[in-house]
Amino acid sequence: MERTVVLIKPDGIQRGLVGEIMHRFERKGLKLVGLKMVTMTDAMLDSWYVHHKDKPFFETLKTFMEWTPVVAMVWEGLEAVAAVRKIVGITKAREAEAGSIRGDFGMSGSQNIIHASDSLESAEKELGLIFNADEIFDYESGMDSLIYSKGEA
Ligand code: CMP
Repeated sequence: MERTVVLIKPDGIQRGLVGEIMHRFERKGLKLVGLKMVTMTDAMLDSWYVHHKDKPFFETLKTFMEWTPVVAMVWEGLEAVAAVRKIVGITKAREAEAGSIRGDFGMSGSQNIIHASDSLESAEKELGLIFNADEIFDYESGMDSLIYSKGEA
């Protein structure tokens, strides 16, 4: 099973979308294995967004991400990285597919409500930046046999 990291960004918090967003992942059949509120620091963001450090929007992005705490979650499931990215939608929210979180709730390409890991490698790195080992939970979900067929997961 894959694990992937999702952040509800400060605009998602301010707009009261936390419950709506979590509900979508739950209904999909993903399993919540980590959840916390966290204030992103400059040092965390420098590492989180290292691939954007030379972009003109880098400083604005960091200021935005430090506006309020974020809600950080780890969701587990079969090919969870790709499944979660589909639910999230593309970066530019006004062009994101209707039915996706960004497509349903956003217009901006920067204040786009939510972050999701773009690969297993990013997920591992992001998980390590936010969560301690004892904040990730291994448990039996009663839903597993309803969500997946025998031998599939
Ligand atoms: P995300 O895809 O989660 O991670 C990188 C973030 O950088 C992206 O969401 C946006 O919040 C932000 N971003 C990407 N492109 C731009 C841009 N052209 N201008 C401003 N912010 C951007």
